[in-house]
Amino acid sequence: MTSFSHAIPFVQEAAPIIRLCWENGWNEANGGNFSWRLPTDEITGVLARRYPNVARGAATPLPQPQPSLDGEYFLVTGTGQFFRHATEYPEQVFGIVQIVEGGTACQTVWGFENGGRPTSEFATHLVGHATRKRISGGRERVVLHCHVPEFIALSFLMPLDSRTLTLALWEKMPECIVIFPDGVRVVPPLLPGTVKIAEASARELEKGRVISWSHHGIFASEESPEKVFTLVETVEKASGIHRRVLSAGGPKRGIDKALLAELASYFAKMMVCPPDLLEEPARDAAVEPTE
Ligand code: 13P
Ligand code: ZN
Repeated sequence: MTSFSHAIPFVQEAAPIIRLCWENGWNEANGGNFSWRLPTDEITGVLARRYPNVARGAATPLPQPQPSLDGEYFLVTGTGQFFRHATEYPEQVFGIVQIVEGGTACQTVWGFENGGRPTSEFATHLVGHATRKRISGGRERVVLHCHVPEFIALSFLMPLDSRTLTLALWEKMPECIVIFPDGVRVVPPLLPGTVKIAEASARELEKGRVISWSHHGIFASEESPEKVFTLVETVEKASGIHRRVLSAGGPKRGIDKALLAELASYFAKMMVCPPDLLEEPARDAAVEPTE
């Protein structure tokens, strides 16, 4: 990974990972976005020491209020910014914003040089943070959205159904059920950057850390840039295997469910939750997959 240093340790940690996403072919042009809910004491200390004279931007209203995030600071990529430029122009690619006015507005406190502003997907990032902060008891702090090609390809080849997609991925590599036991939750094709996709995403993020924006990309939540990268990397690897298998005429077999259950019980301590999608859904709870 690119060696890189920066006065803000969070930028120092995030920028090389963002750049690596581009190197992996996951984030062409301005595709994808990233946000990190920063520990308040640390970031206010760093800003006061390193950037004492930076003026705050004006408070900008949020499309969807998030009262549970009031006062929180986020490192976030700017709309229209390229992941490819993350280590070269960090002050332009990233900004730090604080959520203010009871969770109804945000204010830039650092970065976004040349008049930038947070990603157009910020509403979904914030609702994702609010949801996953509550569900993980504050552990999860980072959201990453990437246009991962193998994963996107599957949304053109498979039913848009969470259980079908999750099982197809779990059956391709033994690590998958351990790394994403909460599965991959499918959001139907919706217009990017809208409140509608934010609300649909929030419903799925209640159930797991990884969602599929059908025909668009992956959106994942974890504790750190490193951990969210690992999650995306693993889903994309399994998607690549599955796509190759489909391209070769479809699977003749997969890792069977008994072995998946054995893996899940053997590695239970490492997993964030039990793999609920392994269970057959109750008959009247079964949802018809959409083709
Ligand atoms: P932004 O440049 O606004 O982050 O949008 C990129 C993207 O991937 C939209 O889904
Ligand atoms: Zn996108």
